[in-house]
Amino acid sequence: MILIDGKKVAAELREELKQEVSKLKSKINKVPGLTVILIGELAPSKIYVKMKEKAANEVGLKSEVIRYPENVEEKTILEKINKLNVDKSVSGILVQLPLPKHIDKQKVIETISPKKDVDGFHPINVGNLSSGYDSCIPCTPLGCYLLLKNFEKNLTGKKAVVIGRSNLNGKPMTQLLLKENCTVTITHSKTKDLKGECLKADIIIAAVGIPKLVKGDWVKKDAIVIDVGINKTDDGIVGDVEFDEVSKIAKAITPVPGGVGPMTIACLLKNTIECFKKNI
Ligand code: GUN
Repeated sequence: MILIDGKKVAAELREELKQEVSKLKSKINKVPGLTVILIGELAPSKIYVKMKEKAANEVGLKSEVIRYPENVEEKTILEKINKLNVDKSVSGILVQLPLPKHIDKQKVIETISPKKDVDGFHPINVGNLSSGYDSCIPCTPLGCYLLLKNFEKNLTGKKAVVIGRSNLNGKPMTQLLLKENCTVTITHSKTKDLKGECLKADIIIAAVGIPKLVKGDWVKKDAIVIDVGINKTDDGIVGDVEFDEVSKIAKAITPVPGGVGPMTIACLLKNTIECFKKNI
């Protein structure tokens, strides 16, 4: 079994991005800027935003976090986004989710200019991705895709099973695998015989948020298993895959932590730089 080391691949990607930012700076004396909006005091959101800010600074991006209290009016957020949309020093805008209940998530997502939508959540980017056009790709599935491609260049004809149908992961992941000529089955928590579906897969992407769902006897020998899950349990943070069992069967597997997680943040930096290059 080969451990797909997301930490290592992400560090290599960050190093490449750092060099790219440095080149941009010396060529045009400008650096891409990432602005993150954080609303409220949710501990995991605060941790994620800190990690994003630190990573952005490390590759030399201009990074800014704008914080609002939990009870901020929706109007205030939409007005701020509209200002950031026309601010030339801002290449990418990210509003950390989840949002307080009184703020309409879809309205927020649709207010961000698709050209600065580093999350790839805007319907224009979603549509472009599903039509096979150039688009901003959501960071987690993009990270999974880069890890897969790093491990195996040619995915043509492979049977891929995606567990999870979220807009954040499952659906965009499916589009990326289709682009690589995989035969993709989308499954979810209500799928009948999930084990049977997984047993047919050359590639399993587990992104359903159920701790240790995928067991050793669900996986074909020589399958590649990408675990997107980050589940808090009494045993600590675990993925959607029963790692100890599956790692004995699979050809390759990502660990949790240290697999997809580090790639997500590296891909956010990548998307910010891509947005910058497209917008100048
Ligand atoms: N909250 C958890 N994951 C994400 C993400 O990828 N983007 C945003 N904006 N919020 C999140």
